[in-house]
Amino acid sequence: MHASLITPSTVPRHIAIIMDGNGRWARERGWPRLKGHEQGSLSVRRVADACMSAGVEYLTLYAFSTENWRRPAHEVSGLMLLLERFLSEKVADMIENGVRLATIGRTEALPAPVKKRLDRAMADTAHNNRLILTLALNYGGRDEIVEAARGIARGVQAGTLKPESINQELFASHLDTRGMPDPDLLIRTSGEMRISNFLLWQLSYTEIHVTQKLWPDFGADDLKAAIADYASRERRYGASMENAASITIPS
Ligand code: FPP
Repeated sequence: MHASLITPSTVPRHIAIIMDGNGRWARERGWPRLKGHEQGSLSVRRVADACMSAGVEYLTLYAFSTENWRRPAHEVSGLMLLLERFLSEKVADMIENGVRLATIGRTEALPAPVKKRLDRAMADTAHNNRLILTLALNYGGRDEIVEAARGIARGVQAGTLKPESINQELFASHLDTRGMPDPDLLIRTSGEMRISNFLLWQLSYTEIHVTQKLWPDFGADDLKAAIADYASRERRYGASMENAASITIPS
């Protein structure tokens, strides 16, 4: 399907993105990796705008994983500074455009100035609902699942929860993404065919679009192409082709 044929019913409600390839983009130019991340943070704005134009309601970006702490210290601190800069420069735009900022992951372990800006940005945009922009920060899918299991175990131990009442819905309500629909479409840039510990529970039935484009080069047209690819898929949630029309999406 051509990108211009997108109609509202074929637009994913929730897009999640693994923003990969910043380092390669910089290396191709003989520049330091941080230059790639800096350019990558400009793509965030472009893609958020394109999502709003297309009518996407939720955009979730893998900005810093629990594994990213293993990168050289100057790259980690550079990424944190970029995040701080992004927050200080973009909150006014977010307020103006109806974007609500949210996070998933253990943000309490982020440097204090970043955490403070994040909290302020979330409070300042709390009443917006045109686009929910969720940044996954110090996020790991396994970590999130373990944390949910801990919360549930505490409930059982305290006697407020019966083991028999633990079901998928209850489990999902203990995840960082509680209240959000699961992603309809996962985009990964720079060609890698991996999930990389991102949204392990939530991606169960998500359509995956992998593009060779490096994240700093990813723009509105690439997002449209990904949405068109999504629109061409037939989502069956494990049902047969004949029964797919009457599917109730598992909770
Ligand atoms: C992956 O590229 C990218 C990251 C680990 C960080 C993503 C961060 C940004 C896009 C910038 C800051 C974010 C915001 C929200 C302002 P890579 O370094 O793994 O690339 P490579 O695989 O080519 O080395």
